[in-house]
Amino acid sequence: MNNISFELNGKMINMGCELTRRLLDVLRIDFGLTGTKEGCQEGECGACLVFIDGQILNSCVVPVGNVIGKSVITIEGYAATEEYQRIERAFLEYGAVQCGYCTPGMVMAVGALLKSGQPLEDKTIKSALSGNLCRCTGYQTIFDAVKSMDLGGGEDV
Ligand code: FES
Ligand code: FES
Repeated sequence: MNNISFELNGKMINMGCELTRRLLDVLRIDFGLTGTKEGCQEGECGACLVFIDGQILNSCVVPVGNVIGKSVITIEGYAATEEYQRIERAFLEYGAVQCGYCTPGMVMAVGALLKSGQPLEDKTIKSALSGNLCRCTGYQTIFDAVKSMDLGGGEDV
């Protein structure tokens, strides 16, 4: 057991923890942040994406020891931002959510795309979403929702 500290959704955390525990488990079990989903458990589906120092990473393959001294933002923390609200409005407008299991990860991936400042062109959107699996939507509605943001979709009216 080690004492570790990191920032979680803007709050400093100090805890005793094995360094090799998966960040995903620490978030869901220790902190009850169940918006971060577990899918494949091997870095393939994107359901467990979180921001670590501003970069999206699959938390199922990140040992918690790797986030010591860093900032972790989960979907719960990201939901407090205007950027998130804009993505949510676009997803709702285009019906981009069915069962919703992939949605937190999708939203984080879109958030990373918006933060990158890249134009919301077809290829950049497809590339940004390429690490996220969805069993329900066929991806088109998600793509359309993100594409709409290029034209002001998701903005307040
Ligand atoms: S559960 Fe982490 S990438 Fe699938
Ligand atoms: S909405 Fe069900 S997995 Fe994507």
